[in-house]
Order: sequence, then structure tokens, then C-alpha cells
Amino acid sequence: MLKISERMSEPTLDSMTFLNEVVGRYPKAISFAPGRPTPELFGVEKSLGLLRKHAPAILGRPDIRSEEALNEIAQYGRTNGIVHHHVARQLLQDEGLDLDSDQLVITNGCQEAMLLLLLTLFTPPRDVLLATEPVYLGITAAARLLGIEVVPIRLRPDGPDLDELAAAAQLLRKQGKVPRALYTIPDFDNPSGYTTSLETRHDLCFLARHNNLLLLEDTPYRMLRFESEPLPLLKTIDPEQVVLLGSYSKTIFPGLRLGFLSGDVEVSLAGRVVPLSQVVSKAKSLTSINTSPLMQATLASVLIENDHSLTSHAVMLSAHYREKRDALLVAMERHFSEDPKAPPGVCWNRPEGGFFVTVHVPFEFTMSLVEECAATAGVIIAPMSLFTFSTAHYRAIRLSFSAVALADIDEGVARLASFVQDRQAQSGRAADTAYRAASIHRRPAFARSEVDASM
Ligand SMILES: Cc1ncc(COP(=O)(O)O)c(C=O)c1O
Repeated sequence: MLKISERMSEPTLDSMTFLNEVVGRYPKAISFAPGRPTPELFGVEKSLGLLRKHAPAILGRPDIRSEEALNEIAQYGRTNGIVHHHVARQLLQDEGLDLDSDQLVITNGCQEAMLLLLLTLFTPPRDVLLATEPVYLGITAAARLLGIEVVPIRLRPDGPDLDELAAAAQLLRKQGKVPRALYTIPDFDNPSGYTTSLETRHDLCFLARHNNLLLLEDTPYRMLRFESEPLPLLKTIDPEQVVLLGSYSKTIFPGLRLGFLSGDVEVSLAGRVVPLSQVVSKAKSLTSINTSPLMQATLASVLIENDHSLTSHAVMLSAHYREKRDALLVAMERHFSEDPKAPPGVCWNRPEGGFFVTVHVPFEFTMSLVEECAATAGVIIAPMSLFTFSTAHYRAIRLSFSAVALADIDEGVARLASFVQDRQAQSGRAADTAYRAASIHRRPAFARSEVDASM
């Protein structure tokens, strides 16, 4: 029998599959699990129609016929992409970010951008990736697959814990390792929904520079803002220390498979200083040759049609997701605070954008409880333990409001509240039994720890 690489048994690779299987097994359950955008907002047909209209403009050659332009687009293309000028113009308009378009790398979704960075920046086992935790598994599972060590840095509601980051960097260096980069999602993080505060953004950039640590700034939800003013990108605060990662999956649609990375930071390759984009290009020529030029052209035609700004489109999307966020928060208040039967000890955050809310519960929401919750209460959630790699003991869950129907939100939360209440009653009874049994056997210390653990 062929023995496959040990790395393929990495547990993080299986946990998402398990969650998808639960979703598949209980099709009638109300699901707050997938972090997917709402398909009614995609406008696919309109986007595809724009391609023919704008084909010459996409190539910057208004003098040629549409058919000629389309044939050119459909050819093998430049490894780092053919629509980099259009993406750079959009970033300038929407973010005020003036990037050298030649250093932008257009990727097959943000996922490929992450993989390319792991492949090019890290030499395992010496180089270590730091990542805020809980974390989007797309990066940490990929790192593990490549044999790259990952060190978690606690994510607080106002951003990464900087004391922990400084201590981790110091400890790694003492061990002869190199803390190479920190992965972070400053705006409306997946999974937590947290946003890094202005102060923490500045302090993080300062700390990163001081420790020669690159910041990998992932921004897929940034334009989906529901309230307050946008905070500056880390890339704007310290352009030389930050690699910006972007995705059009949430602002246009995921089937485009389009993202990008800013490859303008300087790196040293065999004693020569070169832009990161040049090194990434070598790796990309082997991972995908290039990103589908037809899909790139579709993106560019949407950008051209919108005068290279997605701001007003994002305002429309944000209004939709804000309505769902508000419905979820109202339902949480109703079923977890106001209801006299509401289970105590549950609290949650109010995300200012994105798709996700963190809910703290008074017990560990294990994977087997996820299945039980789907089977008995008819509601599916994602446990926070799914997004961790240092510990599975997380008394929190992620509720995603993006893909659930507005009309189902209240009922879904009511079902969750009744499951949490039953679960607490059960653990209360279990604790009570354990306490009495322990008292009978005269082991009060053991009994106390049992009670604490189950609360
Ligand atoms: C934080 C984060 N980064 C990256 C991705 C992947 O993006 P893409 O669809 O562009 O590959 C996702 C997808 O949900 C995500 O949540």
C-alpha cells in the first residue's frame, strides 16, 4: 500500500470537511456555519456581459476590435497577471493607496496569494509564521502542509496582543529560529469579527519594524463596513513592512477566484535585492502558470464599468449584510438576555462589518456538540476550536450571518438558545452528581475542579 505523506493527516485539514459534512447531513437545519456571500448579490450575468464590451479597454488598446482583444486575452498571459493596472487604479481610488502596478501579483483568489507567500518567504524549519488566533485556517493549514511552524498570537477585540507578539518573537530568536511574518486580518476578522484599533495598528507596525517582521495584511471583508469611518490599512501606515492581500470573492463573487498581493517590498535573493513580486512570479509560474485571463478580464470589465471604484457597490452590499447583522444582534438580545429562561453566561461582540459574530458560551462547544446541536435543535454553528491550532478548548462559537436567510435568523437563534440552555442544565446536573459522588468519597478538591470545568 502506498504510504502517503504524514502531513496529510494534519487535523486542521479535516475539521472543515467535518463541518461541511454536518451541513450536508442536516439540510433542513438553519446554518450559521458557512462564511459565504449571498448569491443574490453576485450579478454574474451582468458581469459576464461586460467582458465583450470592454475587451479592448481591458488591454489598454481601444484601437482594436473586441474579437481580436478577446483572442489576445484568452492566450497564455503574463505570470503576475494582465489586469494589474486596473487593480492598482481601484486601490488608489478606494483606499488612496498608490502602489506600483508592476509589483502587484494577480492570484487565483487570496488563497493562492497566501500559498505563494508561504512558499517564497519561509525556509522551514528555521522560519516561523506567527498568526493571530483564532485564525482563518486557509493560511495556518497551508503552512502546516508545507512543514512551516506556526505560533499563535492571541487576538483581542482591539487587535493582536502585542506583548504576546513581542515575547514570542524574542523567544523564537533565542531558540535560533526566525519569526518571519505575522498573518493578521485587521478589518472584521474571520472568524472573530474583531477590528484592530487605530492605536494597535500603529503599535503593531512599530513592533513589526523593530523585530524585522513582515505583516501579511489580509483584507477580504474590509469594504463591507456597516458603520464608523475606515481605519488606515497597515500597508498605508508602513508600506515597506507590509504585504497587502486582497480578494474579490466578497465584493464581486467567489467564482471569479481572484485576489492579489502587493509584491513591492524588497527582499534579498542570493545576495541581490529584488522586489518580492519577482520571486513570487517564479513560484506562481509553477503553481498555476497564470491566473485565468478570462476571469481577470471579467474583473477588469467590472472595474472599468464602475470607473475603477467599488465603493458604491460595496455600500449596497454592506446595507444587505448590515440588515442581517442587526437581525442577528436583535435575536441574540431577545433569546439570550431578555427571555427569563435565557441561559446565563453568554456574551457576544458587535462587528462593525464583515460576516461574523463571536459568541462566548459557558462550556466547550466541541465538534460532537456541533453534530448534536444540528440533530436535536436544527441549527448549525462553527465552533471557535475549529479556528485554532494551539488548543481545542474554546468556550466560543462563530455565527456567520452572511449566508443565512434574513427570515430564518430569529428562529435559528431561538433554537441555539434552547440548545445552550439544555446543555447547561445537563452540565449543571452532571456537576451536581459529580459533587455529591465526590463528597461521598471525601474528595472535595477533585469535586471542586469537576464543577469548575463543567460551568
Ligand atoms: C480571511 C480570509 N482570507 C482569504 C480567504 C480566501 O479568499 P479567496 O476566495 O479570494 O481565495 C477567505 C475566504 O473566506 C477569508 O475569509
